[in-house]
Order: sequence, then structure tokens, then C-alpha cells
Amino acid sequence: MQPSPAKPPLTAEVLPCSTSDVVFQRLDASADPVYTIAEGSTTMAAIKSASYHLATMKRPVAIPTETVYGLAADALDASAVQQIFSTKGRPADNPLIVHVSSRSMLRSLLPPSYTIPTTYERLITAFWPGPMTLLFPADPAKIPAIVTAGQPTVAIRMPSHPIARALIHYSQTPLAAPSANSSGRPSPTKAEHVWNDIGCNGKVGLILDGGPCEVGVESTVIDGITDPSGAVKVLRPGGVTPEQIEAILHVGLEPHLRPPVLVHRRDYEDKVLEQNPTTPGMKYLHYTPAVPVILALPATADSSITDDLSKALGGYSRLGALLTSESPLKRQLESMEGTNLEMYDLGPREQPSVVAQRLFDGLLTLEGRGVEVILVEGIQESDVGLAVMNRVRKAAKHICYVRLD
Ligand code: TXA
Ligand code: MG
Repeated sequence: MQPSPAKPPLTAEVLPCSTSDVVFQRLDASADPVYTIAEGSTTMAAIKSASYHLATMKRPVAIPTETVYGLAADALDASAVQQIFSTKGRPADNPLIVHVSSRSMLRSLLPPSYTIPTTYERLITAFWPGPMTLLFPADPAKIPAIVTAGQPTVAIRMPSHPIARALIHYSQTPLAAPSANSSGRPSPTKAEHVWNDIGCNGKVGLILDGGPCEVGVESTVIDGITDPSGAVKVLRPGGVTPEQIEAILHVGLEPHLRPPVLVHRRDYEDKVLEQNPTTPGMKYLHYTPAVPVILALPATADSSITDDLSKALGGYSRLGALLTSESPLKRQLESMEGTNLEMYDLGPREQPSVVAQRLFDGLLTLEGRGVEVILVEGIQESDVGLAVMNRVRKAAKHICYVRLD
């Protein structure tokens, strides 16, 4: 018998979307907005198709958000959510973020008797819709255990990306969505990143292309409910900075009434928690491209640990470097003989939001150019630079202390 001809490989459908086709009539987080998606537009067609995948086929869809692309499924359907885990190769004990499009959708997910605390009301008013995720008590009657990995809390956020919000609104269901990458890899900030990872091989059937993500690093994950002393804990730094959170929570309060805002690993350690998957990015490998990443940090003037850059990079002939626009490392790397250098500009070092927006694209672009190693120049760990360095430190195999003069 003749072998049957090989089936053509299945690949994802990529549908373009335009944010200008979505109009919100009210942007006040305390009231539900009215959404209008332009009838007859490619965006409306894409949203209808995505909604069909989600609601009828019960399949995950890759969607743009303002932070990174997400791999979304109906958060209230356990078997749809299961496919997120299998598509990503994500460990089952790592819980997901649930995305909502309105205050009433948030309310519908919480235990009926639960009152949202004042701290959260302030944060929601200031930062939703936007790159901030809050932990709430989980109601197992509403949210399947697979979403929370059986935790007593559920992570919820209202994204600001018009396509993400319009899709949630149109589908009339909250969407569980981790970043749309295979587990352990850098997060995707462009539709083509999703395509290269889980689209070209048909692991995901549909990608909505909403252009590059504005923030570029994931949302800030905040636990303002479990600390007995009332501290607000930043489990994962992200698009909303600790400085912004403090400004909102401390305004108009006497110093002794201000809730402390504590950043995990910067302001507190918790060894037990660090073995727990619910401390974002602690237990599992994160953000790593296929080639080793080396973090370059400035050696202090009196430092005895100044590394020789050419020694640290010796043995590699194709080097990738993610450098800030004015980096003195550029000259040093260019003067190294016998190496082929691929550079990617991270933007001005005084503008960490630009660096954040470019970081994952930089890692994925250089990996795609076939480099053997990627050197990443560190930036100041303040503002959104804290989130940038959190990702780079997790991606990096080694730290190299270099002279920057
Ligand atoms: O910006 C974002 O947050 C993106 C977009 C798609 O919204 N999503 C994202 O999801 O980054 P993911 O799954 O890659 O990261 C979510 C993090 C995980 O590290 C997880 O451990 C943590 O949030 N998380 C989820 N539920 C939690 C919970 N109940 N308690 C503590 N951490 C939780
Ligand atoms: Mg992720």
C-alpha cells in the first residue's frame, strides 16, 4: 500500500487588528465602559473569529495586550484552560492571570460577600485598565481550580489594550491568559514572536496581530490581601512601578497610616515562598532564549571583581549585544578581534520605559540572527528599570562586571 501523502503542516491564522476600530465611550474604571467595534472592519472580523475560537471551539487564541501577547482561553472553562497549559508546556502548579473588561465582570468573579479593600479601590482607580494584576480571594464555585492551581487567591487584571478589552467584552467572558510563549522562553511583544514560537507549528490556531506591545514587560503582580500587617507586596515588578504605587497609596495619609509597599527580593526575602510557583518567576526557568545571556553590570571604582570582557566572551565567534544607545561597551566590543558582532539598540538608558519596550524583542531578534551568546547591558533598577532588570537577571546565566568609562 502506498503511504498516504504527508499532510500540509498546520499553521496559525494571523488576523490584523487596528486599535482605532475600537471606541470606548467611558474610560472611568468605576463604571462599565460602552464598547463600539467598527462594523465591517478587519478588526471586527478578527474579533468575531477569535470569539468563535474561544466560545465555540473552546480553543486558545493569542491576543495583544499592552504588556506582552497573551495566550487566552475562557477562564470559566477548565478544559479550554487546560489547553493553555499543554500549548505552553506550562507546569500545572503555576497559576494564571484572569483578564476582565469591566468592573462588573470583576465583581462577578469574587466571593459574593467580599468587599474590595480601600487599598485596591485606590489602585484600581489609578491603574486600571492597565499593566497591574491584583490578587483576590478565589471563589472555587466560580473560578476553576486549574486557573488558580488550587491556590486560595486568584490573580485578576483589566488590560488597557483596546483589542484585548474589546475581545473580552464581545465574548462576554473573562479570559485566562499567560504570556503567549513556550514556557521558559522570552515573552512575545509582537505577533511575529508568537508566530515563530507557537504559530508556525500550529500549536495555536489563531493570532490577533495588534502591532507591537507598548509596555513590553508583563504586568506588576500585587498581593495586598495576605500580609497580616497590611503591607502591599509586589510579587513581580512590571509596567506599574513601586514608585507609582506608593504615590497613589500614600497620598493624603499621615506617615503612620501609610501601608508599606514591599518589593519581593528588594525589600523582603521569603525562602519558603521562593520555592513556590506563586512567586512569579521564582521556581521555574524564565525569559531564556536558546543561547546563553550574560548580564553586564558596571564595576564600582574600587571593585576587585572587574571582569575582562573579551575573556568573558572568549570562545564565541558570533556575539549579540543588547546595548543602550550611548553605551561605552559598543566601542569595547567593536575592538574585539575575530568576532562577528550583532547589536540591538535598547534606547537611551535614562528612558527605562523604552528599554522595557525593546528588551524581549531584542533577545528574540538577536537569537533569530543566529548569535551564540547575548550580552545585555544592565540599567538602573528604579522606575520600570526594576522590571527590566528583574527579567534580565532571570534570563542571564552569568554576570560580568565591566568598566564603563
Ligand atoms: O502582563 C501580563 O501579566 C501578561 C499578559 C498576557 O496579561 N501575563 C502574564 O502571565 O505575564 P504569566 O502567566 O506569564 O505570568 C503570571 C504570573 C505567574 O508568574 C504566576 O505565578 C503569577 O502571575 N500568579 C498567577 N496567579 C497567582 C496567584 N494566585 N498568586 C501568586 N501569583 C500568581
Ligand atoms: Mg510568562
